[in-house]
Amino acid sequence: FPDLPERGRPVGFQAVGDNTVDSIVVPNGYDWSVTAAWGDPILDGAPEFDFENQSVEAQQQQFGYNCDFVAILPLDRHFERALMWVNHEYTNEELMFRGWAGPENATDEQLLIVQAAHGGSVVEIERVDDTGEWRPVPRRRRYNRRIHTGTEFRLVGPAAGSDLLKTSADRTGTKVKGMLNNCAGGTTPWGTILTAEENFNQYFGATAAITDPETVQRLSRYGIRTEAGTDRGWERADSRFDLATEPNEANRFGWIIEVDPYDPDSTPRKLTTLGRLKHEGASIAIAEDGRAVAYMGDDERFDYVYKFVSKNTYRPGDSKRDRDHNLRLLEEGDLYVAKFAGNSPEFPADAPADGLFDGTGEWIPLIEDGESKVEGWSVEDVLIFTRLAADQVGPTKMDRPEDVEPNPVTGTVYIALTNNSARTPEQRDEANPRAANKFGHVIGLDEDRGDAAALSFTWKIVLIAGDPEDPETYFDGFDKSQVSQVSCPDNVAFDPAGRLWISTDGMPGASGVADGLFVMPVEGDDTGHLRRFASVPRGAECSGPFITPDGRSATIAVQHPGEGSGASPDNPLSTFPYGDQPRPSVVTVWRKSPTGGPFIGD
Ligand code: FEO
Ligand code: CA
Ligand code: CA
Ligand code: CA
Repeated sequence: FPDLPERGRPVGFQAVGDNTVDSIVVPNGYDWSVTAAWGDPILDGAPEFDFENQSVEAQQQQFGYNCDFVAILPLDRHFERALMWVNHEYTNEELMFRGWAGPENATDEQLLIVQAAHGGSVVEIERVDDTGEWRPVPRRRRYNRRIHTGTEFRLVGPAAGSDLLKTSADRTGTKVKGMLNNCAGGTTPWGTILTAEENFNQYFGATAAITDPETVQRLSRYGIRTEAGTDRGWERADSRFDLATEPNEANRFGWIIEVDPYDPDSTPRKLTTLGRLKHEGASIAIAEDGRAVAYMGDDERFDYVYKFVSKNTYRPGDSKRDRDHNLRLLEEGDLYVAKFAGNSPEFPADAPADGLFDGTGEWIPLIEDGESKVEGWSVEDVLIFTRLAADQVGPTKMDRPEDVEPNPVTGTVYIALTNNSARTPEQRDEANPRAANKFGHVIGLDEDRGDAAALSFTWKIVLIAGDPEDPETYFDGFDKSQVSQVSCPDNVAFDPAGRLWISTDGMPGASGVADGLFVMPVEGDDTGHLRRFASVPRGAECSGPFITPDGRSATIAVQHPGEGSGASPDNPLSTFPYGDQPRPSVVTVWRKSPTGGPFIGD
């Protein structure tokens, strides 16, 4: 793209404040529109959305619920046509159905509609006029796709075919129906999507208590129930979600999945090589020698940051041979977990002696050269019960690792740590320095020699979130009278100038103000100058964010508008975006006029 913004560029727009209008709020000079909403027909022949008359068949052809990760991949050189990938993480049944009275009173049809609303969507989109706005392409829907709980997936990598992955419906341990709770994700340089199964534990019920001690330990470490009971009632409509009869079904969820959006007939693959966690996301950097490196967070209080390094090297060409080669890159390689060491030895303390929360770190091997590095553990066990394997090697317990993403412009890897109310003062360390960390923080990690495959790194906290008037907060050294309040950093993205974009989940609970999208320069005079760019409606979290590589559009996911609202007159139900029942939506923001440069954030 010509005229891309230079590195270290300052932010230029007027920051927006809290949101009291149950809508999207953007800075002066910007506009926004809905790109896709729950229920939009996306496959040819799909019915129009009808809130009062939903069906499984309709939902399987319509845009799913609770949009989360968003990625936009080009269909042409000028980014005028593109494919939009969206995760449908979970559902709010109380907002999906009129008169919902809990899973115990749900019909099987409702439970199956809920299942069909999970998964992901591919939607072909095009730019509107010469602006940054996107709209779905009418009619031509060659690439459009709905992935849901009926879609077949293939398990690949070293654990595929393991006895621990076999069920009565799949004696091979290689075929799974559906993906669940796909939260964030990433794109690969070879044009595929990585999508991450996060809180998959909630979908399993048990008609009888699980008693085998080893199975109980393995289920419990992932927060999966072991006593008899149900959370969402799914086992009633589909017996594979009953752990008492299908104890291995839960092992088939909790993976990073690779989807090829350019091939609508492809079978999405669950990558066992990358381990089984409550995966937040996965983002790729290419190492010095061409190997692909995936950075990953396990979103739980006191869980870990991971990275995967492929055995083979990435081929930049786009011949069919190169593409087939790249499509197998994430099936073989090494898996590591991070240990952070502070350089201020007096810790735990209120402030570090050298004025910075920073230090060094190492990547501890779990799998290397195809072999387990965890004593007494097989490769299969390390990959399927990765949390328990990592517990053996002493990594750093973090404050809920969310997105872990390399900045494609500077190479620094940013780790969003959303919060951790359970950390005690004694449990503080320099990388997680706050007790009862309510507002979260962000770490910047630089691999040694600038090589993504390095086994050691340096790190520094670049943002300690919260109200800037709170003396504990830190905005990479910037003057705090000029920054926006921010808390619970969740998803991160980068624009072509290398600025860090952060979306939040949990600000209403933590700070009493709406979630939104923020941008913070990470180099130049404006480093740390964090400003709020957008606010989302009542009850919604802001996720997604995707800034197109031409810098013209910021696309966000407005997830669960209306959640927790509607109970009282002073807390009315959200009606976003169409003035009636709230519908989770993907929204694009763009500059109205190119005066002063067309770039988002300037
Ligand atoms: Fe679904 Fe970790 O946020
Ligand atoms: Ca999230
Ligand atoms: Ca220090
Ligand atoms: Ca992200």
